[in-house]
Amino acid sequence: MKIAVLPGDGIGTEIVAQAVKVLQALDLKFEMESGLVGGAAYEAHGHPLPESTLKLAKEADAILFGAVGDWKYDTLDRPLRPEQAILGLRKHLGLFANFRPAICYEQLVGASSLNPELIAGLDILIIRELTGDIYFGQPRGRRIAVDGHFPGAEEAFDTMRYSRPEIERIAHVAFQAARKRKAAGSEGRVTSVDKANVLETFQFWKDIVTEVGLQYPDIALDHMYVDNAAMQLVRAPKKFDVVVTGNMFGDILSDEASMLTGSIGMLPSASMNANNQGLFEPSHGSAPDIAGKNIANPLATILSAAMMLRFSLDQAKAADRIETAVKAVLAQGLRTTDIFSTGTTRVSTLEMGNAVVQALK
Ligand code: IPM
Ligand code: MG
Repeated sequence: MKIAVLPGDGIGTEIVAQAVKVLQALDLKFEMESGLVGGAAYEAHGHPLPESTLKLAKEADAILFGAVGDWKYDTLDRPLRPEQAILGLRKHLGLFANFRPAICYEQLVGASSLNPELIAGLDILIIRELTGDIYFGQPRGRRIAVDGHFPGAEEAFDTMRYSRPEIERIAHVAFQAARKRKAAGSEGRVTSVDKANVLETFQFWKDIVTEVGLQYPDIALDHMYVDNAAMQLVRAPKKFDVVVTGNMFGDILSDEASMLTGSIGMLPSASMNANNQGLFEPSHGSAPDIAGKNIANPLATILSAAMMLRFSLDQAKAADRIETAVKAVLAQGLRTTDIFSTGTTRVSTLEMGNAVVQALK
């Protein structure tokens, strides 16, 4: 089991160190190799995704990723900005299926900005298409407008597009995930989020998801416009089971969903390709404002390591052990600052990692 460890920038190094420690405490043999990515790689090699890092990632069974980005790189040319590293990895490894679970842990039900009764027991899964849509669509750029409201003016443009196979494969991923969840007690429903009332691309999306859905008679399918989905997520989030959507809508809705759970510091994610190779990262970013202070929450990264064991390395038992250990430390009342509330015990990044290792035993 070969793991590429890419901590990245900001709090990335601190939180990934805790996840590595947890992996090492399991009785499994891993080959782990670290690489630079994001701003850290730009500093050392002049590029956010150097050839050596890409090679390391391609040759690994799985990638454990921290976070990239820092405001100080915001003025660099776009191809040199840290975010390009994650976009490049998605593209070069074909990581088209992004799983972003939003689970509200019992002990954190008070940490959300929503009423506890709305989110207690929440367990939904957002599946975001990750290598298409307006994120990667060509052409894009700047030019002088030849038409529109201001011909002759400067303009910028991007291209929203999806091909049939791209939609079919992510739809299958969603229906299969819903089936697995149904076997474990969920409702067995896929909500496909689109903007078919306005966009050609998303009418096509809706038509094809509907077609694929016919192959899954055991799974219910409904469709929702993205604006309504954004509203329903905060109005009645527990009504969702599996949500499947395009790259840009998924980016937005998954951040919204993260807030339902109390803290974005708790949410892992998996980005998978067709060969079960995956990149596993916390849903949150590099948080440069708290980097190096030993206060970041490492649980999202530790839970991402659990997803890695389950999705890419075929070690479901070990994944369960980590998830149980995380619940145990929460039950002990241990909290990093982001999830702290009166009556609980505030711990550092390092202490939280150590507590999970202890709880594994
Ligand atoms: C995410 C992030 C990325 C995205 C950025 C960093 C490119 O927001 O993973 O959700 O937009 O996909
Ligand atoms: Mg995002």
